[in-house]
Amino acid sequence: MDRILVTGGTGYIGSHTVVELQQAGYKVVIIDNLSNSSRDVVDGIERITGVRPDFVEGDCTDMETLIKLFADYKDIKGIINFAASKAVGESVSKPILYYRNNLVTLLNLLELMDSNGVKGMVFSSSCTVYGEPDENPVTEKAPIKKATSPYGNTKQISEEIISDVINAGASFKSVILRYFNPVGAHPSAEIGELPNGVPQNLIPYLTQTAIGIRNELSVFGDDYDTPDGSCIRDYINVVDLAKAHVIAVERMLQDKSENKIEIFNLGTGQGVSVLELINVFEEATGVKVPHRIVGRRAGDIEKVWADPLYANEVLGWKATSTLADTMRSAWAWQKRLRERGIM
Ligand code: UD1
Repeated sequence: MDRILVTGGTGYIGSHTVVELQQAGYKVVIIDNLSNSSRDVVDGIERITGVRPDFVEGDCTDMETLIKLFADYKDIKGIINFAASKAVGESVSKPILYYRNNLVTLLNLLELMDSNGVKGMVFSSSCTVYGEPDENPVTEKAPIKKATSPYGNTKQISEEIISDVINAGASFKSVILRYFNPVGAHPSAEIGELPNGVPQNLIPYLTQTAIGIRNELSVFGDDYDTPDGSCIRDYINVVDLAKAHVIAVERMLQDKSENKIEIFNLGTGQGVSVLELINVFEEATGVKVPHRIVGRRAGDIEKVWADPLYANEVLGWKATSTLADTMRSAWAWQKRLRERGIM
């Protein structure tokens, strides 16, 4: 079976994807600089799959590290590029860090692909490229809006870089996946999301509140033009999301892609408000989440959810988890962190 290089493979979405790749029979080598994850994640992956993925601690912005990696692993046929910084707020205060990490990593990998016989790259993009969409659900044809943060801009620029490089005659293919809001954890509770410090994203903040690490969850605004006034997102289960990467890899390696660059929205097609999500969590787990409405958060989009039809029909992928199950998985993971004395 072919080997896949997973950059950022100890991170949240990366680790779940490594599990699915290994369960599909792929050999994996992870490279991660552990800037926002830990080596223990490799143990979690091994406990779930019975296979320990190869792990290289290193930074993809360093070309020499990557050259050595490709020399050591001559059987890499595909890359899934998760290695990137992803905190929207931090990107505003540290733009150089974000442009360097996210763009230099991508450039280095693209530069090495053809000479090392790599047939394709799956790229982690985001629904953030659509900004505040003119209509919902959002299809892949929706216009790209000016990015509101350096983080969002790195995703837009990365998509353009991939397109320019492939149009210039590179022989590899790419599948660009635009994720909506990935949430939940592996049902084994062996891996999940583990943000550093105070969580910025809704679900980790919610589960940390439910377990008593945080006093209350702030709901950012109830005066939006939505049925209950809180923002609407498309919350996609991380394991469902991970499976899409395996399908995308297969498409490229088995020459099933319709174009050298393909772009897919990955979401459920279901818009859910913040207040609805709190309710689903409480009903699914029986645990109350103390919360309070506060002012809007700067830069938030009012409502965005995916039209996943193109991914359903062309990629042959569909989100199947229920939101209640996803919330239970997030809660099981939070409790596991507590048992292990991590959180
Ligand atoms: C943001 C980015 C997205 C990025 C993702 C991962 C934008 C527009 N979106 O998604 O591109 O991939 O982060 O980091 O840049 N909320 C609360 N209280 C909280 C936290 C969040 O009410 O304590 C609300 C937010 O207002 C939002 C929803 O929950 O309506 C989801 O927020 P969050 O999890 O931070 O994700 P996004 O902002 O949608």
